[in-house]
Amino acid sequence: MPDLLLGQTLTFAADPFAEGPDAARHDPHGAILVQDGMIRAMGPAADLRTAHPQARVHDYGRAVLSAGFVDAHIHFPQTAIIASWGKRLIDWLNTYTFPEEMRFGDPAYATEIAARTFDLTLAHGTTTICSYATIHPESVDAFFQQAQARGLRALAGKTCMDRNAPDGLRDAPQSAYDDSKRLLERWHGQDRLSYVITPRFSPTSSPEQLEALGALWAEHPHCLMQTHLSEQVDEIAWLRSLYPQARDYLDTYESFGLLGPNGLYGHAIHLEPREIDRLAEVDAAVVHCPTSNTFIGSGLFDLAGLKTRGLRVGLATDTGGGSSFSMLRTMAAAYEVAQLRGEALHPAQLWWLATAGSARSLRLQDRIGTLAPGMEADIVVVDLESTPAIAQRAARAESFWEALFPTIMMGDDRAIRAVWAGGQKVTLPPATE
Ligand code: GUN
Ligand code: ZN
Repeated sequence: MPDLLLGQTLTFAADPFAEGPDAARHDPHGAILVQDGMIRAMGPAADLRTAHPQARVHDYGRAVLSAGFVDAHIHFPQTAIIASWGKRLIDWLNTYTFPEEMRFGDPAYATEIAARTFDLTLAHGTTTICSYATIHPESVDAFFQQAQARGLRALAGKTCMDRNAPDGLRDAPQSAYDDSKRLLERWHGQDRLSYVITPRFSPTSSPEQLEALGALWAEHPHCLMQTHLSEQVDEIAWLRSLYPQARDYLDTYESFGLLGPNGLYGHAIHLEPREIDRLAEVDAAVVHCPTSNTFIGSGLFDLAGLKTRGLRVGLATDTGGGSSFSMLRTMAAAYEVAQLRGEALHPAQLWWLATAGSARSLRLQDRIGTLAPGMEADIVVVDLESTPAIAQRAARAESFWEALFPTIMMGDDRAIRAVWAGGQKVTLPPATE
């Protein structure tokens, strides 16, 4: 039996960075018909009710129905160490991250944290995450098993590193290639799962390892390749000492076959003009991680500049470097970072980044990220009055965007009223008293 979801529908027919807010499609009395995991129809509630009298109706009233949020860069093994105090990137990795990641050779622990991550991200309205795992193949299996059990579209890869990491947290060029290839063959294209080739970042990979992963990508060019790029100034100085031959950070990837149209480069804050030119030329994607970039003190991502160059940009929490699982909080941080650069992002642009923009960065825009017939039925239902502070501001609103913006700036998991993933209503944890 089909399900008919009623509410204020919000989706995009185009990119609001190019077309302005008119790129959005908002219907205050909209409906979405869902059957067999897919969106079958969308339109005015009255029309769809008449056309589908047999459908099971879920009336969400004034809540917003949107494509589920897409988090384009997250580290699920860092869930338990989110909000660790007082370090910058390299110290933070050594002090908190690497000791925690050492634990993921234990399949039971990897499964526990993968399950916890999906429970948390779903409760925050995020229906797709693109995650780093750890060096342990077990961590990749745990991630995909948990995603598959929940019927989610999800992406991840084994994080490869063979130097500048502690004993027990290093692989080798050949084992990184072999393990990644085996995991790719096991998981890529199973149900809604995608394998992503994942060198952590050039400082923790030898040139030989980058070369081996470049060769693997050349054998599987349809796969995404994710890594970190130019996140902190001290990191770039360290990288230059490790790769004295390289023209710039991106060159350490480019010279080993790790630059291409399916490349996904996290952070990308301190870019040289040549790096921007090359990313644009090959149509690579960059990922904006604003809560992480402020929390770890990395810098202010140049969203307007990179969008103007035509780069595909995704939005992401980057937890545990990021300080929230919420894509609403992440939109708020993106707004604030843009303000510090003298730009005011429209709510339509923020919402697009967290849905269609992120989906586009993952090259999944034909499946997720917008609401339309033929798209997968991953839907978030957002309450625009989730706290007294938000409700009293929304009550003054004179337009839909003005009503939405307080939830973008002040909302969190309390604003997530329901989530549908793969056409199924997700059971969310009960709200705590
Ligand atoms: N650079 C390399 N590894 C990481 C990581 O785990 N988090 C962040 N924010 N940056 C990184
Ligand atoms: Zn990261």
